[in-house]
Amino acid sequence: MASRGPKVPTHLAIIMDGNGRWARQRLLPRSAGHRKGTSTVRKIAYACSDRGVKVLTLYGFSTENWKRTGDEVGALMGLYERSVRKELGEFHRRGVQFRVIGRIHEFPERVRNILLEHVEATRGNTDLILNLALNYGGRAEIVDGVRSLAQQVREGSLAPDDIDEETLGRQMYTGDLPDPDLLIRTGGDMRFSNFLLWQVAYTELYVTKALWPDFDEAALDQAFQVYGGRERRFGAAGEKLR
Ligand code: IPE
Ligand code: IPE
Ligand code: MG
Repeated sequence: MASRGPKVPTHLAIIMDGNGRWARQRLLPRSAGHRKGTSTVRKIAYACSDRGVKVLTLYGFSTENWKRTGDEVGALMGLYERSVRKELGEFHRRGVQFRVIGRIHEFPERVRNILLEHVEATRGNTDLILNLALNYGGRAEIVDGVRSLAQQVREGSLAPDDIDEETLGRQMYTGDLPDPDLLIRTGGDMRFSNFLLWQVAYTELYVTKALWPDFDEAALDQAFQVYGGRERRFGAAGEKLR
């Protein structure tokens, strides 16, 4: 196994960016970048499971990605469907519990059904929770959470004064999971692009210029190495600063 950093995040989130640029560098269509990116997903997901990551949350399609051409959106949908279908055996061998987060009900029925079948089939696996964020928006997620609390208030099962960070946090799509310890963004852009806005309050950030199709196990280990050297303070006076 590749050299292991001193500390591995329990929950790792990744903004997998740069597929289009990878393709453009090779004068290929954007869909070729997405195809190559899919093989990186597979490699990195299993590298995370080998290294002891417990939750991996991957940004696959944002609520804003509908602005792309029908061709590109269609290519992405086809890739999610085919790649998830191919992985069922490996999910079971490795104990991967596959989940989808986002407004998946707005996805084409065929793709949605395949994805949800895999969620159902892997429900009993416990080694790695793999959240694939599809039609995901951080603001949409908060709106969905607030709506559901408002509904409970209307039904009389919740008092407005009882709404606190924990109550709302539990409404998030990842409400039963710890917040991400580390967020990796590939492709070099220093922004969140509407990803996990609620959950990243105290997440460590790591941005690499590497494009997602070029990201590999060594790059993952490098990120973990850097993460291992960070001092997380959560607002307290730190060890090194006292
Ligand atoms: C990320 O790569 C994949 C998705 C957003 C689905 P991009 O397609 O955004 O690649 P760039 O940023 O154009 O290089
Ligand atoms: C973020 O990448 C979304 C995913 C990786 C799925 P984008 O390429 O959509 O983000 P922007 O538009 O550069 O902020
Ligand atoms: Mg991009």
